[in-house]
Amino acid sequence: ATSTARVAALPTAELHLHIEGTLEPEMVFELAARNNVGLPFQSVEDLREAYQFTSLQSFLDLYYECMAVLQTRDDFRTLGERYLERAYEQGVRHAEIFFDAQAHTARGLAAEDVLDGLLDALHTGARKGISGGLILSFLRDRPVPEALETLESLAHRAGDLLAVGLDSAEVGYPPELFTPVFARAKELGLRVVAHAGEEGPAAYVWEALDLLGAERIDHGIRSIEDPELIERLRRERIPLTLCPFSNVKLAVISSLAEHPILDLLDQGIMVTVNSDDPAYFGGYLADNMAGLTAAFPSLEESALERLARNSVDASFAGSERKAELH
Ligand code: ADE
Ligand code: ZN
Repeated sequence: ATSTARVAALPTAELHLHIEGTLEPEMVFELAARNNVGLPFQSVEDLREAYQFTSLQSFLDLYYECMAVLQTRDDFRTLGERYLERAYEQGVRHAEIFFDAQAHTARGLAAEDVLDGLLDALHTGARKGISGGLILSFLRDRPVPEALETLESLAHRAGDLLAVGLDSAEVGYPPELFTPVFARAKELGLRVVAHAGEEGPAAYVWEALDLLGAERIDHGIRSIEDPELIERLRRERIPLTLCPFSNVKLAVISSLAEHPILDLLDQGIMVTVNSDDPAYFGGYLADNMAGLTAAFPSLEESALERLARNSVDASFAGSERKAELH
């Protein structure tokens, strides 16, 4: 196995990271105290013990609950800065970060405070050598008109966004529903990604590509059930942003050794390793890579280098930045 420290020597891009999923239990308590928010947990240990999930939904329930402590622009700046510091230590040099605007506006926060706090953090990160951008991610289990309103409310700030995405509870909320929202995002000049094929079927991956115009698929591991889809992903070099620790914690697969990442890599699919919600799933990007080397003794250094290179290639960084990171 390769240690996290050795993996961290490889420059990588993190392409699948929910900023709210970097809220460590200590910070939940710190912000709860600062903002006078009550918590149904007695202590950090008590909260950590609740990190036992049986499905995506069981995780999402806790994830949305903990977010209530995030109240101000400054809270989002701190959250973002702490993530970028940790990511940097793990070799991440470029980060394309999801934020769930609707999870905050539904609680009465202003979308622009969230956006501005995260932009503050990215400015700090840029000074320290980590580039990146923000992905406005729509919650697929909330009404489509709400997603459209959220997008319109930030349309005048489109220049501060990199892309739009689609996340939250997947089964029963097919990408097709969001076709008009993504059409509008493209009109605004935004890039497009979408979660699909995590718990949902391979058919959702087809929809994300054909109806939403997704340029990358987040997770997408159930694509392995559909050989025609695999062929398309290979031919069109469509990246899958895989999250190994997440898949085990959310019981999408039974153990890391069952992860299809090496099969996908062998089949010529553009796969990348990412951390999804690292505060909840047991580690950041290099931890995920190191975990894979422990689970797959046959995984060679050259495969790690390939995964690191893929992450940069699959990013939306400009060609100059990509060249710097290679
Ligand atoms: N929101 C945060 N993490 C997520 C995941 N793994 N899948 C869908 N929505 C999410
Ligand atoms: Zn995700």
